[in-house]
Amino acid sequence: MKYLNLGTQLSQASQLVLGCMRMADCSPEEVVAVLQGTQELGINFYDHSDVYAAGQAESSFARGLREAKISRDKVLIQSKCGLRDVYTNYHFDFSRDYIISSVEASLKRLETDYLDVLLLHRPDALVEPEEVGEAFESLHQAGKVRYFGVSNQNPYQIELLQKSVKQPLIINQLQFGPAHTPMLDQGLNANMLNSFAVNRDGGVLDYCRLHNITIQPWSPFQVDLSQGLFIKHPKYSQLTKKLEEVAADYGVSLEAMVIAWILRHPAKMQPIIGSMNPKRIASMAQAFEIQLSRADWYQIYKSAGNPLP
Ligand SMILES: NC(=O)c1ccc[n+]([C@@H]2O[C@H](COP(=O)([O-])OP(=O)(O)OC[C@H]3O[C@@H](n4cnc5c(N)ncnc54)[C@H](OP(=O)(O)O)[C@@H]3O)[C@@H](O)[C@H]2O)c1
Repeated sequence: MKYLNLGTQLSQASQLVLGCMRMADCSPEEVVAVLQGTQELGINFYDHSDVYAAGQAESSFARGLREAKISRDKVLIQSKCGLRDVYTNYHFDFSRDYIISSVEASLKRLETDYLDVLLLHRPDALVEPEEVGEAFESLHQAGKVRYFGVSNQNPYQIELLQKSVKQPLIINQLQFGPAHTPMLDQGLNANMLNSFAVNRDGGVLDYCRLHNITIQPWSPFQVDLSQGLFIKHPKYSQLTKKLEEVAADYGVSLEAMVIAWILRHPAKMQPIIGSMNPKRIASMAQAFEIQLSRADWYQIYKSAGNPLP
């Protein structure tokens, strides 16, 4: 395993993160197995949200840590807030009181006094940055949150928040993987007239690199949350074939090749995997044993249907 300094602030964070969105679907024994398995691999960073399985993912995780006898100082816990009434009247809420009450509830479910990182889950069009600043300051002063970041936000949204938030925003969680590359496409096609040149996220990749914001790619194996795994998707059969070929050349699993492809980018990203299968997770960790060549990295990119200008 490799370890990163996130945003130059938070040290010793494993470069592979276990995302806990699907944890509430597991039995207590399966949760213990996945937590023990990740710890043995050196994974110490766990991603949550207050909305995953309506909070049950956080509760399952806390119970799993207790049963596996893994102490709080062996894990870095990140959670998110800002999505509201997901199952009844879905909307976003970055108001001061809602942020604070969400964190209080997460801390209770996670059976801990503090979060290592709090992220704002998705942009709130009605955001009042001063309120976010007040909420973060209050949580930080109380020792309830050590570091802060965002998810799915573009550079100007981050700048707007940062104007009123005293603490540096050190993480931006964004969807990224071989089957989801808009943040690469626009840079590669700069000044072209094709649709790949469309700037969908304000140059977020370069912005994050410039400002020491760690990108956490979410759902690296999914086309998106509704279309499922790209490995099984007919549109991505060429990509899967190419990944299998290159993986065989390097002597690793296809899953490891997906992670190796993300790690090869010099932005030092911190991919968030969602597998609850300890064997699969172990096979992904093979990614740290190899270094993809430029040519192979571009071959994989092109095989997903991305032309080079
Ligand atoms: N910020 C956001 O907006 C946002 C949105 C979505 C997710 N996230 C975060 O990202 C994390 C990861 O998301 P995800 O679960 O969609 O990630 P993923 O790693 O792309 O997908 C994992 C899922 O795919 C399944 N799978 C089946 N075959 C697989 C294979 N060959 N290789 C890998 N996975 C395979 C896994 O099943 P098995 O368990 O059987 O392996 C698991 O259910 C979440 O837990 C959450 O923390 C953030």
